[in-house]
Amino acid sequence: MNDLPSQHESRVTIQGIEIALGFPDEFQFEWIGQHDVLDQLLAAWLVIDPNDIPLNPRLIGKPGVGKTTLAYAAAKKINKPVYIYQCTMDTRPEDLLISPVVDKNGGIRYVASSLVTAMIKGGVCILDEANRMSEKSWASLAALLDSRRYIESIVAGLKVMAHPDFRICVTMNDDASTFEIPEYIHSRLQPQIYLDFPEAEEEKRILKENLPFADDYIIDYVISFLQRAHSNNENYTVRDGINITRYAAKRIASLKSGRDNIDNLLRESILMTLGDEALNYIL
Ligand SMILES: Nc1ncnc2c1ncn2[C@@H]1O[C@H](COP(=O)(O)OP(=O)(O)OP(=O)(O)O)[C@@H](O)[C@H]1O
Ligand SMILES: [Mg+2]
Repeated sequence: MNDLPSQHESRVTIQGIEIALGFPDEFQFEWIGQHDVLDQLLAAWLVIDPNDIPLNPRLIGKPGVGKTTLAYAAAKKINKPVYIYQCTMDTRPEDLLISPVVDKNGGIRYVASSLVTAMIKGGVCILDEANRMSEKSWASLAALLDSRRYIESIVAGLKVMAHPDFRICVTMNDDASTFEIPEYIHSRLQPQIYLDFPEAEEEKRILKENLPFADDYIIDYVISFLQRAHSNNENYTVRDGINITRYAAKRIASLKSGRDNIDNLLRESILMTLGDEALNYIL
């Protein structure tokens, strides 16, 4: 087995059954600012004694505030391969664990999800937007999320123990399109780490990191817009700021001549990204 990203499927045999594994997600995500939440997440994963086990932290915050980026950056910081599982309201237990697939000879092949691949390889699984999943899918994770640390695949008829290096982090946003999470799962997803909007200086560094080609003038304009929106409790996030800046930079780059209507283009980018209510927060 190797942990390098590869398009060549790797396989393992568990209890006599061959299972195809997935491959890790490779991005250049870097976490900027807010060291406390990064430290909290890394501490939750730490194992401090042979009798200790890692915790299963939950990252909570508004859409676009940086949850997935934080979980990914934390996993990379401890040099582990990262496997992101995108949860939806249609996620079934076998999708989360091991799926049967018909192979070209008409037989059945078993394919591990990114969660089970992380368990086998000793990587980190990010269960992303996990509050979109139904209770039935959560139930299949109960043993994994307590001191038993295993899953049982009904489809493949086997039990898979988590590698000691396996870590999991769950992200959840507080928008309305989600299921209630059952109490026995709540109690297994601790601690809860809340992400809030970054300070202006951090927000500026995040925009610059994500959009190194954008002018300072555009970035400063968008940052002052975002900060004014944050102080009025609007839900506009860094992601919105990135989208506004990216679009404004494209519009400005495509101007045939002159840059004298840049403020108009910035205004228009805000309008086209967030709608006319957002115009209340520009100077
Ligand atoms: N502290 C940060 N450092 C670096 N990039 C950040 C930071 N915060 C946010 N970002 C950037 O903001 C964008 C949104 O972040 P991300 O996708 O992690 O948000 P999210 O909270 O997972 O959103 P959702 O709930 O919609 O999944 C990304 O492009 C990410 O790179
Ligand atoms: Mg996310």
